[in-house]
Amino acid sequence: MNYYERNRDAFLKGLMEFLRIPSISTLPENKPDIQRAAAFVAAELRGAGMQQVEIIEGQGHPLVYGEWTGAPGKPTLLMYGHYDVQPPDPLEEWKSPPFEPTLRGDDLFARGSSDDKGQTYILIKAVEGLLKTEGRLPVNVKFLIEGEEEVGGEHIEAYVSSKPPRLKADAAVICDTEMFAPGLPTLCVGLRGIVYLELDVRGADHDLHSGSYGGAAPNPFQAVAEILCALKDREGHILIPGFYDRVRPPSAKEREAWARLPFDEEEYKRKEVGVTELVGEPEIPLFERLWARPTLEVHGIRGGFTGEGAKTVIPARAVAKISMRLVPDQRPEEVLEQFTRAVTAACPRGVTAEVRNIHGAAASLVDTESPFIKAAAEALSESFGKETVYIRSGGSIPIVGLFDRFLGIPSVLMGFGLPDDNLHAPNEKFHLPNFYRGIEAVAKYLEVLGR
Ligand code: BES
Ligand code: ZN
Repeated sequence: MNYYERNRDAFLKGLMEFLRIPSISTLPENKPDIQRAAAFVAAELRGAGMQQVEIIEGQGHPLVYGEWTGAPGKPTLLMYGHYDVQPPDPLEEWKSPPFEPTLRGDDLFARGSSDDKGQTYILIKAVEGLLKTEGRLPVNVKFLIEGEEEVGGEHIEAYVSSKPPRLKADAAVICDTEMFAPGLPTLCVGLRGIVYLELDVRGADHDLHSGSYGGAAPNPFQAVAEILCALKDREGHILIPGFYDRVRPPSAKEREAWARLPFDEEEYKRKEVGVTELVGEPEIPLFERLWARPTLEVHGIRGGFTGEGAKTVIPARAVAKISMRLVPDQRPEEVLEQFTRAVTAACPRGVTAEVRNIHGAAASLVDTESPFIKAAAEALSESFGKETVYIRSGGSIPIVGLFDRFLGIPSVLMGFGLPDDNLHAPNEKFHLPNFYRGIEAVAKYLEVLGR
């Protein structure tokens, strides 16, 4: 048995400890948990044999840094992950509590198990194993782990854009994506960007009795609905002027590769998504809709009366949370402007509509010809005994674009999540065989690169 096989129980125990910390980045009341999670990561990095380990404080949640640079002449990898998680609500949907990691079969259930604590832990344990058994690494490794990926990553953006010399590296390695299917080694080579905003609609200056004033007073909820219908049609085409102008379609080669992926649309629809019908632009194939077309989604509408029973009120205000996923070469600032103009044009009389930016990030594409990608495909194929597939993902990892822009390095997105891991949803899980195999695959990657 090698180090990795011998230490599976210890790895699992460590991961469970990590998962017990409710490090929800968006909620102020979890700030102490964020600090604890950062301290946990720092301790793990030290335990793994990393040097210069440091918790970097700044505006927003702390970053954790560590490095091992004892392989002169060899490439340097910058390993990235995030220790923050999404809120666990709705709590009543969880079969076991979100911050009490629970094993059912081969799956470990907890918020953050797959996104991204389990996968961040893979990187740490891979390095730990090599350092504990060989006393050295085949390449130089730096870690930069953040605590606000799920809320846009302000701190890491400020830090990376200042180009600190210690971040100098040849490529980044990120485990925060999914495998296309169980057992199928996957490299993600494209991510969508995002613009997240609030649409704040105000009508009368106070709430009104809907009997006394209905028929005369404007209703902000109706206005939100009208604005939304003006922004996207019933077939999923976004109607914002100029929105699609810069969209770069996937290459013919990419389209062909996607069409060859092993996929059962019926099963995807019924089991994975849990719907009777898929929607979206009817003339565009599914993977292209998910990975290479922009979207506009509403996440919640706040205001008015939402309690049990009935209350007859015309609310004074409605606030909608909306995001648009972006694709290459859309620009977040430009899309925000286009959106704001379209809202102004669509806003019905009697109400005002204000658009507030929350966060934004550009889409990213990785060059599949990069030697770092080729080595990753080789390591994954060896570890999983199958040819590595290249896909894109519809999600966003803002740092990928920033590493490219400010550090000039590509990101190797070597993810070990599964499509049914329930990211951001109740009953998030991580498939443990992927956890253990992921650790060995990352170690193999370092070895391949060191050759
Ligand atoms: N791990 C996800 C991104 C992801 C999701 C990649 C699904 C591949 C498949 C990441 O942690 C995430 O959720 N990011 C946020 C970023 C946003 C808030 C800026 C997202 O995509 O919503
Ligand atoms: Zn996430």
